[in-house]
Amino acid sequence: MCIYLSIYLSIYLSIYLSIYLSIYLSIYLSIYLSVFSLLICELYQLSRPDLFRGEAFIDGKWVQNGKTFPVYEPSTGEVLGDVASMSRSDFVTGIKSADVGFREYSSTTTAHYRAALLKKWYDLIISNKDDIATILVLENGKTFSEAVGEVVYAASFVSWFAEEATRAYGDVIPSSMPNTTVFTLKQPVGVCGIITPWNFPAAMITRKIAPALAVGCSVVIKPPSETPYTAAALVKLAIEAGIPPRVIQLIPTKDRDAATELCTNPIVKKISFTGSTKVGIFLSKLAMGTMKKVSMELGGNAPFIVFDDADIDLAVQAAMVCKFRCSGQTCVCANRILVHKKLLPEFTKKLIAEVSKLKVGFGLDKTTTQGPLVNRGGVDKVNQHIEDAVSKGAKLELGGIIPKDVNQNGFFIAPTILTGVTKDMLVANDETFGPLAPVFGFDSEDEAVSLANDTEFGLAGYFFSKDVNRILRVASRLECGLVGVNTGKISAAESPFGGVKESGVGREGSKYGLAEYYIIKAVTIGNTNA
Ligand code: SIN
Repeated sequence: MCIYLSIYLSIYLSIYLSIYLSIYLSIYLSIYLSVFSLLICELYQLSRPDLFRGEAFIDGKWVQNGKTFPVYEPSTGEVLGDVASMSRSDFVTGIKSADVGFREYSSTTTAHYRAALLKKWYDLIISNKDDIATILVLENGKTFSEAVGEVVYAASFVSWFAEEATRAYGDVIPSSMPNTTVFTLKQPVGVCGIITPWNFPAAMITRKIAPALAVGCSVVIKPPSETPYTAAALVKLAIEAGIPPRVIQLIPTKDRDAATELCTNPIVKKISFTGSTKVGIFLSKLAMGTMKKVSMELGGNAPFIVFDDADIDLAVQAAMVCKFRCSGQTCVCANRILVHKKLLPEFTKKLIAEVSKLKVGFGLDKTTTQGPLVNRGGVDKVNQHIEDAVSKGAKLELGGIIPKDVNQNGFFIAPTILTGVTKDMLVANDETFGPLAPVFGFDSEDEAVSLANDTEFGLAGYFFSKDVNRILRVASRLECGLVGVNTGKISAAESPFGGVKESGVGREGSKYGLAEYYIIKAVTIGNTNA
């Protein structure tokens, strides 16, 4: 089965690539990519090897331009594959094609038709979830069960926005002028530049492009260079679902300058980015040059507060979910665990017991419960935070080492717990983005809230309490866009996701996520004599 698919892929690719490249180069690249997908297929039992692809999708075709960049497998540190590294002019081509796609798609489809396309895409994602999850594990490192969970989470945005598409109502507004009617139209903003992160290679794409496609926009996606394969699998399935080819362009690149074309090209009307605050501010400044609409989902430094009236077992379980999901590489991960001093000994003991049960290893190994980090830089940052804290007096309770029974060239670090952490330490001020749980102590509610808010970030915050008055008070006092009370799980398609302060602007998911992709036009009809 794999062999036939691979031969088919090889012939198919050489025909298409020859349009762009010399015939010899395109045959060479096609055979290389197809043999490669065959190997992956055999090795990891993908039932759809054609979902594992390293080309760009521009103007309705899978293309290469002769340049590639390596993608690494985090559990071995070895090269997983080579992916097309497209140039600035490829972005210009993709943007122009997306503009043609947008005009046709937005003017010829109804919301119900677009919803039907999205539902087909949802079905295809779900029916191929094991293959997508396998690809995701290979390039991101997370465990297979987490990856399947992410694919289902990714698909939930597609079905959510398929339904929301049909409910984008406008308003009829009572006019202050006689014989006048005022109403609003919600219209798609146009071509959208989508720049996604590696920590959720599937969900961060669908959370952005499902609302865009639902309202009638077209998208040009720049996937992360660490995890471009999952993006290609999703785009392949979107095209199979019947989304018009020019409406989705996928342009991988290692050239950051080429990708900035998305933020400067006047055809692009909207930029949606998830990543660091530093890059988000840089991209926003570029986008403001042509007054694009922007959504920025940026860094966090989430406090996780355990008050003296908390259910400790619940708080420990929630900390496990919230801190160690994706090996601590989420923007909403608990970055600072603040525990009332009365509960500190019991909470710490129970947290150590739970974290000790985590099994670090290769994500496709069924017994693994904690994968590697995505790259060496991630491991270095965690180590830097540990060293800094210990040098300033924190106690290393657990971890802080590379586990022995894993591939030593992989990007592994053992889940780590530090106690006696104080606000002068790096870990208090910088997002660790790794499996490090730093535990602080506090004496009063005011002190906890003030420590929690003592950061330029404002994405997520969590707290544990049984007192309803405290729940209402602290939920409103925390300076963040998302608050979890007595839970570590706050992300869902129906819930608005986004930050305040330097954690960004705009909301994703929910009914507000749709609004990021349309403009509101006020239509005033005068002299109606009605
Ligand atoms: C993120 O880390 O950027 C997203 C996490 C989530 O959706 O829960």
